[in-house]
Formats: sequence, C-alpha cells, structure tokens
Amino acid sequence: MKKEINLWDYAGDIMKELQKGVLLTTKSGERVNTMTIAWGTLGIEWARPIFTVFVRENRYTRTFLEENPEFTINVPYGTLDKKILGICGTKSGKDTDKIQLAGLTLEPPEVISVPAIRELPLTLECRIIYKQKQDPEAITEESKRKFYPQDVDGSFCGSNRDYHTAYYGEVLAAYLIE
Ligand SMILES: Cc1cc2nc3c(=O)[nH]c(=O)nc-3n(C[C@H](O)[C@H](O)[C@H](O)COP(=O)(O)O)c2cc1C
Repeated sequence: MKKEINLWDYAGDIMKELQKGVLLTTKSGERVNTMTIAWGTLGIEWARPIFTVFVRENRYTRTFLEENPEFTINVPYGTLDKKILGICGTKSGKDTDKIQLAGLTLEPPEVISVPAIRELPLTLECRIIYKQKQDPEAITEESKRKFYPQDVDGSFCGSNRDYHTAYYGEVLAAYLIE
C-alpha cells in the first residue's frame, strides 16, 4: 500500500535524513542499482518541485542516469538496518548486485520506470529535467582541496579527483510505502 504525501509537509524529514544518508536508485534495461547519497537539494525551479542529486563522474549510477534519466529517492522512515547505507555507499553496482546484497525489496513505481524500496519507504519519483557538470573553475579553492583531492582515484567511494554532475529531478510522485 502506498500513501500519497504532500512533498512540502515532509521536506524537513527528508532533509534531516539526507544528512545521515538516503538512497538514489536507478534503472537501466532490466538492471536496478542504488547508491547512498548525503548531498542533495530540494527546491523549486521552472515552477516545479525538484530534487537535485550530485553524482561523481566514476559512479556506476552516473552511467545509469545517462541511459535512463529517471531516479527514485528512498528515504528511511522508521527503523532502518544501518548496514544498508554502508553497503550501498561503499560497493559499486559495477561489480555487485547491491539490491540483493543489502536485502532490499523493490516495489513497482507509480509514474516512472525506476522502482521504490520497501525498507526505505518515503519515496520520491523523479525525472531529470536538467543536468550540468559542475565547473571546477567556479568551485572555491577550499572546497576543491577538501572534496576533490587529485591524487585519489575516481573509483574511491569517498572524496576523490572526480567532480560532480548535478542532476535535477522533477518530483512527479511522493509517497510512503506502508
Ligand atoms: C554517507 C555517504 C554519502 C555519499 N554521498 C554521495 C553523493 O552525494 N554523491 C556521490 O557521488 N557519492 C556519494 N557517496 C559515495 C557512493 O555512495 C559510493 O561511491 C557508491 O559505491 C557508488 O555506487 P555505484 O558505483 O553503484 O553508483 C556517498 C557514500 C556514503 C557512505
């Protein structure tokens, strides 16, 4: 059962959880992948509600977003097995089926092609309406030093030499899986 929610009523909950980690789920062909994110923004542009994610160059997720420009944001609501965010934030879908490894249950989506996840039941279904590679020249030196160490390979799950692409996802559906 899904309970439709008003996105703005849950904006505070979503942003609080984001700081601890939520999932960004993508699908290409029949494959579903998910990764932990702790950066993102919720807001409005072009009179639409938008959730923006920031994905480094080497993430497998980025390939999926380029192949199928849709994603779900899966937010913990209630209890969550902490190991889920650990697995999904350190292993790459390039060589692991994280859905299986983390014991996640996929739920059919309402509007887009990418599924929701039962274990992280607060769901946003998003379709990308804008994307932009972030310009290193426009990033402060302090942030560059801290977040883009050029001696760390892009395959590392933490800060590394790769810059982010911002993907703006229009929020087309918001609900709680009950
Ligand atoms: C708490 C946490 C937050 C993270 N946030 C982001 C993020 O916002 N953007 C990003 O590109 N990677 C982020 N990562 C790293 C990815 O989750 C990690 O590299 C993951 O293995 C990528 O999976 P993929 O290769 O299947 O896409 C985060 C990791 C953790 C543990």
